[in-house]
Amino acid sequence: EEDELYGTTKEFKQLILSLPKVIGWRTPNLYLFQRFWCQPKEIQAIISAQTHFQAQDSDVIIATIPKSGTTWLKALVFAIVNRRGFRVDSLEHPLLRANPHDLVPFLEYKVYANDENPNLSNIASPRCFASHVPYNSLPKTMIRDNSNCKIVYICRNPFDTFVSIWHFMKKIRPTYLGPFSLEEAFDMYCMGQVGYGPYWDHMLEYWEESLKSPQKVMFFKYEDLKGDVHLQVRRLAEFLGYPFSPQEEKECVVEEITKLCSFQNMKSLEVNKSGKSILNFDNKGLFRKGEVGDWVNLLSKQMVKRLSQIMQEKLDGSGLEF
Ligand code: A3P
Repeated sequence: EEDELYGTTKEFKQLILSLPKVIGWRTPNLYLFQRFWCQPKEIQAIISAQTHFQAQDSDVIIATIPKSGTTWLKALVFAIVNRRGFRVDSLEHPLLRANPHDLVPFLEYKVYANDENPNLSNIASPRCFASHVPYNSLPKTMIRDNSNCKIVYICRNPFDTFVSIWHFMKKIRPTYLGPFSLEEAFDMYCMGQVGYGPYWDHMLEYWEESLKSPQKVMFFKYEDLKGDVHLQVRRLAEFLGYPFSPQEEKECVVEEITKLCSFQNMKSLEVNKSGKSILNFDNKGLFRKGEVGDWVNLLSKQMVKRLSQIMQEKLDGSGLEF
């Protein structure tokens, strides 16, 4: 606890110590902040973003549950909205040299991680940012009624999301935290005690907003992108206000974008084999299998039954299904 709060202000320490806590997956503790579970460093950055971020109408925000396809969606959005400046077939395309997390920074891990109020007014429009926070914890200037910025959300079936988090966590959990078994992790996941969880509240908040304000929030599932990426890229471009022209369709720009952002291509790039875009973590860990249904290799029958029941109960009546 001491370490986690090192260098923070007295007020912030007081806030953190007043919050409910459970053991963390890759840090000592997770705290319940604004009804989601989170690490202290992230909480500090989230508060800064909520206090200072000024949305512009041309902004694009990529909102996701961790391990649900964030890297992929960042790449697709970046390629779509910047295709006038960066031709998708160019050998100089930024996505060939940089990881999507460098090009579309997280508010909580990058933009506000070490700076309470960075100057963002000089970033070329359209500015693209990302966040893992639930809808109602996004900065108010993004979500208030008169804001026209666009929010693109992606989630993934909770079975595969859990499996992806599990493998990721195993790679980055510091040894000093001691062992953390699959059963323990699964149990916490089922109780919603995972970064930015409970995942069902996260999904439902964005789902409901996407139904209420379809011009503002677009809702994707990883499985839909895997199912027909060309169709989804066209939907995405249209939603963002960058539809493909007949000429672009003729030139197969949609196909070029999906190829550039495909799992195979991204995984094979040097920057993603040897680079480091997120603090203390190798880019190569962001590209594991990229498949739907890998959970069959990890979860027991009882686990599947338990998680299915939770999903049924939590998503019941919402119209959201996996
Ligand atoms: P797996 O662990 O199941 O392989 P995030 O980007 O939100 O951290 O999500 C990570 C998951 O997305 C990982 O899933 C990863 O392999 C997969 N992924 C990363 N890039 C992808 C891409 N370009 N296309 C499809 N899946 C991708």
